[in-house]
Amino acid sequence: MHQFISYIKFLLKSSNQHGAHSPFVYNLITKCFYDKSEYAEYKILKAYRSNLLQNPETIKITDFGSGSKVFTTDERSIKAIAKTSGTSLKISELLFRIVRYFQPNTILELGTNLGIGTHAMALANPKSQITTIEGCAEILKVAHQHLLEPELSNINTVQGDFRSVIENLNKDTWDLIFFDGHHSQDATLTYFEKLLPKAHNNSIFIFDDIYWSKGMTEAWENIKNHPQVTVTVDTFNWGLVFFRKEQFKEHFKIRV
Ligand SMILES: C[S@@+](CC[C@H](N)C(=O)[O-])C[C@H]1O[C@@H](n2cnc3c(N)ncnc32)[C@H](O)[C@@H]1O
Repeated sequence: MHQFISYIKFLLKSSNQHGAHSPFVYNLITKCFYDKSEYAEYKILKAYRSNLLQNPETIKITDFGSGSKVFTTDERSIKAIAKTSGTSLKISELLFRIVRYFQPNTILELGTNLGIGTHAMALANPKSQITTIEGCAEILKVAHQHLLEPELSNINTVQGDFRSVIENLNKDTWDLIFFDGHHSQDATLTYFEKLLPKAHNNSIFIFDDIYWSKGMTEAWENIKNHPQVTVTVDTFNWGLVFFRKEQFKEHFKIRV
């Protein structure tokens, strides 16, 4: 119900590029969000996902984070995991465009799952160094099998709980962080605060599922109000956060 009401409000309040006077945001919308090019990589993204969606093998999963709203057992098929937890094709194409547009050199992903998002980011900037964290060892094993291609050698996977892994990451800054797991208010704010010192002026934080629950939306409001945050862009599925000091603090809701 929270998601439905939030979506109606989003439709009423959101706009396209005409609502954005900031050249930075205008360019992001027109040159990245609304870029209609049929990139050759989209076919590779589709094949990666289709492969997983056709895999009937089952694995024992360890439920991390806020727990699943869909499953009751811990035995799941790969195809069901891909369908319910994996990034959709449309969203993985958007992630591809964002990474292609900003060309971040260092990327951190919280929540590898089967590697759909990781794969999209790696294809979008093969020169980037990607670190991706997943708690469930069995899921990560499957992701590994699919991320083995030599052109994806820029991916470093880490198995463990976000809480402990992020304490031990030896990077001073991250250009892009994709927060895509553990969708609870407290956890989201904890990871945001822990990783905030690793943001620089041009870093981008992307939060998935900001309307997943009331708690997630409250977390999103807290993040928007943080003094270090300047521009935010809410696309309903995601909240994008920018720290650019040259921007006024301004919040956008954009239909993608
Ligand atoms: C929504 S899925 C990620 C989807 C993936 N980024 C993609 O693009 O397809 C979230 C993943 O985060 C993992 N996860 C959630 N909370 C975690 C935690 N506290 N520590 C480690 N992994 C966690 C889950 O096991 C799950 O596989």
